[in-house]
Amino acid sequence: MTVTIVGSQLGDEGKGGIVDLYGDDVDVVARYQGGDNAGHTVVHEGEEYKLSLVPSGAIRGKVGVLGNGCVVNPRTLFDEIDTLQERGLDPDVRIAERAHVILPFHRVLDGIEEELKSETDDEVGTTGRGIGPTYEDKAGRRGVRVGDLLDPDVLRERLEYVVPQKRAVVEDVYDLDVDELDDPDAFDVDAVFEEFREFGRRFEAEDMTVNAGAFLSATIDEGQNVMLEGAQGTIIDIDHGNYPYVTSSNPTAGGAATGTGLSPGVVGDGEVIGIVKAYLTRVGSGPLPTELGGVVGDTPGYDEQGEGENEELANYIREEGGEYGTVTGRPRRVGWLDLPMLRHSTRVSGFTGIAINHLDVLAGLDEVKVGHTYTLDGEELASMPATTEQWAKCEANFRSFDGWPEVDWADAAEEGYDALPENAKAYVEYIESELDTPAYAIGVGPGRGETIVREQPF
Ligand code: IMP
Repeated sequence: MTVTIVGSQLGDEGKGGIVDLYGDDVDVVARYQGGDNAGHTVVHEGEEYKLSLVPSGAIRGKVGVLGNGCVVNPRTLFDEIDTLQERGLDPDVRIAERAHVILPFHRVLDGIEEELKSETDDEVGTTGRGIGPTYEDKAGRRGVRVGDLLDPDVLRERLEYVVPQKRAVVEDVYDLDVDELDDPDAFDVDAVFEEFREFGRRFEAEDMTVNAGAFLSATIDEGQNVMLEGAQGTIIDIDHGNYPYVTSSNPTAGGAATGTGLSPGVVGDGEVIGIVKAYLTRVGSGPLPTELGGVVGDTPGYDEQGEGENEELANYIREEGGEYGTVTGRPRRVGWLDLPMLRHSTRVSGFTGIAINHLDVLAGLDEVKVGHTYTLDGEELASMPATTEQWAKCEANFRSFDGWPEVDWADAAEEGYDALPENAKAYVEYIESELDTPAYAIGVGPGRGETIVREQPF
């Protein structure tokens, strides 16, 4: 069977911990979208590993697959694999032949466009990894796929078409001199060909490429368990998120089918677990109706969108939760839990269960609030509106919960749900009841053992 893990908010919900928690029963972990914009930290046998592309299960001896819906930067991939090998691990990673390749000019273009948009305060706040430009070329039918790296003639033909186009975009549209950019080789067909052909040879020599859909279907037919690991979250989904402040892929459950080649029926027959952080964080621009505030550095878009009413509380939660980006190190904006957002995410992905993370971070507060509904133009809304402009106008109607004390969270995790403070349980049960979805797991600390497990999906 499959279990699909989906971020229900804006990314950084702690998906990696839940993948890890249920990972023992898994044979294969497949990512279905995104690239090295994601970041997760895995602790294995006392060692900490920071990964952005290699699926976390690969650290624990599982087969890790990057599905066709991913965009793969081979520089990052091989850096991560080499580092893991130097540290004594031998990760088994397979890459979909249909996955698109992030080429050096994609990163450059990501930077140029963000810079341009920042002149009018319109930047998305991307991770700068070239994600958007790569998906643009995929949709524009001018991309380079992993399978193309294995065939020198095809690779050269594709590069000879696309690279001069990108050079022209830089020079004629953005009016920049390619030779004065940090990485002029990114726009040189021969340089890109040499480097990426070498990656192709390595993919081939190490037998790393697969037809992902066929590979995963065969795995399931053999009775093995497959976990489909989403990166990012629902509200930065290109279709169901707050466009244009989104990433360029589908972190929602539909993406698990299109991004792996498994059918929607196979994904739907399994479990779909929505990962919920007990409060809200956001890196990058865009509205956040339950934002607590905390002007941090030059967080893009903050001046326009941020309410900034309770900076001290936001700073407290940010420090307690270690809310700094894994990939970029940027401090995250902080808000209260947003129920209209979660109702939207639950509908889009059809969660069969949820996992609520970081409940411990809120311990010690006198009062914990949630945005229960929104008011938009005098009307009460239970779910998110479809346009970002409407969402920016939504005012959250808050509900208040009595806070809960710090306890020994490791003990609580061992004893089980009943060991949680009463007020924390009231909070969990409110979320379950509003989403009509049971909490399969409750994260009460960063360690592997600090999760209360109520349901084993496999
Ligand atoms: P991109 O994916 O780098 O193009 O960035 C687009 C938007 O998605 C920006 O607001 C990023 O901050 C956000 N984003 C991308 N990846 C992550 C992630 O792993 N966690 C949280 N936000 C992310």
